[in-house]
Amino acid sequence: MTGGAGYIGSHAAKALRAAGHRVVIYDNLSAGHREAALGATLIEGDIGDMAAVRRALRDSGASAVMHFAAWLSVPDSVRDPAGYYRNNVTGTMGTLEAMAAEGCRQFFFSSTCAVYGEPVETPIRETHPTAPVNAYGQTKLAVEHALPHFERAYGIRSIRLRYFNAAGADPDGEIGEDHAPEIHVIPRAIEAAMGGPPIQIFGDDYPTPDGTCLRDYIHVTDLADAHVRALGWLQRGGASGSYNAGTERPSSVKDVIAAVERATGRAVAQQLAPRRAGDPAILYASAERIRRDLGWVPERPDLETIVTDAWRWHSARPHGFANRPR
Ligand SMILES: NC(=O)c1ccc[n+]([C@@H]2O[C@H](COP(=O)([O-])OP(=O)(O)OC[C@H]3O[C@@H](n4cnc5c(N)ncnc54)[C@H](O)[C@@H]3O)[C@@H](O)[C@H]2O)c1
Repeated sequence: MTGGAGYIGSHAAKALRAAGHRVVIYDNLSAGHREAALGATLIEGDIGDMAAVRRALRDSGASAVMHFAAWLSVPDSVRDPAGYYRNNVTGTMGTLEAMAAEGCRQFFFSSTCAVYGEPVETPIRETHPTAPVNAYGQTKLAVEHALPHFERAYGIRSIRLRYFNAAGADPDGEIGEDHAPEIHVIPRAIEAAMGGPPIQIFGDDYPTPDGTCLRDYIHVTDLADAHVRALGWLQRGGASGSYNAGTERPSSVKDVIAAVERATGRAVAQQLAPRRAGDPAILYASAERIRRDLGWVPERPDLETIVTDAWRWHSARPHGFANRPR
């Protein structure tokens, strides 16, 4: 698992191990945390170092790669497309080349709903046109476009999971989200409830019921379960494909803030800010395909549960994994 010491990867690693799989994490710890590996084997390395990736594949005897390693900030990708293409595209191509050389032929890719760009219809199906509006989404789509070529030439089958907004934390409280800086709305709202800076609402005049953007928040343990099922699918000989991973339930920024206020029992300081370029008003998934093929149904789909689980983690670990100031 590249990037397995990160937020989603660490939850997927925990779920895979619970399902009886042997997991080896490969992470440069640029954004991940050693502690998040929960004792799984962790090889410290960069996906840009193809020889090291080959060595890791050989030494671990890996039969599949789950590829979480990437950078994921939309505004940073606009400022630094060179870095984003290098890490997200070149790094991934190197990983795939290493897999081809080592005979590893199953690949699971952390894609994103950002590949769709501005939606022309909702809910978004996998057949929706792909037209990313930022460099981050383009890097993910570039990888998706390359994968059929790697399958034809090297026999690498792949599942592309297009995550909507990953959120929440391990219900056992062992791991959770710890990004610095934090870019996601639920932990930001929780930070604000804990006395941190006010959360910024980027526009309240969208054509939505309360004027704020609607998004599809998916519990990170449900996402983890989607990876366990995707692995089973390819292991059983299933075909490659792209799948949305979302709950089909849109929630607004104001819904999130209200849920955080209920879960924490505290007020969330908020500030209205201008709209951000490239923020669609409404993004939510149709999950029909993943339900049909992988039998995946989210167990913790409601916002209340997602926020309560996130709050349990952040209140127990206000400084995240490391004991650093926020
Ligand atoms: N968080 C979301 O809501 C979301 C939504 C859609 C897609 N995704 C995708 O899911 C994946 C995981 O996201 P996350 O939220 O867990 O992010 P994260 O930053 O917590 O995890 C990414 C991990 O990859 C590692 N990494 C980054 N570059 C690396 C490199 N060159 N070599 C080795 N390791 C490297 C980081 O150290 C980190 O542990 C990413 O590919 C992201 O694009 C995330």
